[in-house]
Amino acid sequence: MEDFVRASCAHFEALLREQLQRQQRMEQAGKARDFAAAEKIVIGVVGGDGIGPIIVRQARRVLEKLLEEELASGRVELRNIDGLTLERRLACGRAVPEDVLREIKACDVLLKGPTTTPKGGTLESANVTLRRELDLFANVRPVSVPEQGIDWIFFRENTEGEYALGSRGIELPGALSMDFKVTTDAGTRRIARAAFDYARQNGKKSVAIVTKANIMKKTDGMFSRIAHEVAADYPEITAEDWYIDIMTANLVNEALRSQFQVFLLPNLYGDIITDEAAQIQGGVGTAGSANIGAEYAMFEAIHGSAPRKIERGEGDWADPTSILRAAELLLRHIAMADKAEKLGEALRVCTETERRVVMTGHRDGATCKEFVDYVLEKL
Ligand code: IPM
Ligand code: MG
Repeated sequence: MEDFVRASCAHFEALLREQLQRQQRMEQAGKARDFAAAEKIVIGVVGGDGIGPIIVRQARRVLEKLLEEELASGRVELRNIDGLTLERRLACGRAVPEDVLREIKACDVLLKGPTTTPKGGTLESANVTLRRELDLFANVRPVSVPEQGIDWIFFRENTEGEYALGSRGIELPGALSMDFKVTTDAGTRRIARAAFDYARQNGKKSVAIVTKANIMKKTDGMFSRIAHEVAADYPEITAEDWYIDIMTANLVNEALRSQFQVFLLPNLYGDIITDEAAQIQGGVGTAGSANIGAEYAMFEAIHGSAPRKIERGEGDWADPTSILRAAELLLRHIAMADKAEKLGEALRVCTETERRVVMTGHRDGATCKEFVDYVLEKL
């Protein structure tokens, strides 16, 4: 027992020093890239596991069509990156093999399929590793249901909270285990700025700051306090505090929910509530997710790799909508808003209006490829 306490204190000291250094590095971080002025943009295309390679291959076809000219002129390159598979990751014992990380860092932005994370053990989620290694601090997830007046956008902090040290807690088997949650000043300030900048640039009137600051007094308390400090620079926007529990109820309260516009949340609450929001939109297969940093950005489906679908032999019927929404966010990020609009409109027509190709995720509906054939017709 004494040995455990001593070893844990040493472990905690190392974590604390490391996190303080991270906070200092963040304070010196650079400005966001201007893609409109970029001479060349390299888009890395990463398949991932399970249904990942199936949906990503189809999303690539859509990008090939929309970027036809840019690909021909060489201004944009689509670069396949293999090797971010569970087998590879387990074989080398790294969440992201070093050679893959090098290839990824040579790209400007990524379109990434879902990757499987084994339960238990010590292998970290590839997503979490990439978010940290590429410093992708803003997880931005739009959800809209126009006929119900729902037009939400979630700004989820993407590198801290329970995720920063989620694989590095302490455990005394048979007695106790303890994980750590981290909130930093710089980490909160930059995500808050991203949310309020978005609100200002898009004429939104309010930002909901969602925490559990009544219970997590230090970490969420700091998040809320700093969010309000940032809000003071945006006097035309209302900043409202909400607790995560009541906010999850609000999202299913039809009388209330359409009043919300922009949400600003710490990492784990953002993770949970965006699945709820995506379900309200039609399922986790329908929402895209942007992971944005100053230098890199990664765009992905909001859902996992669906191993059970692969086991049933139904991978080809996977719904590509989420990864196509991610591609739409990617195009917007690289200053190609017109192409993003085009894709958004084609998806709207294919999923809402004509309903000629119905995705069910099973053999009775359209395959992933059939759906994308239809999207390509509409582009
Ligand atoms: C998400 C996912 C990830 C997360 C997993 C795959 C690590 O659920 O992007 O929301 O927890 O952030
Ligand atoms: Mg999630």
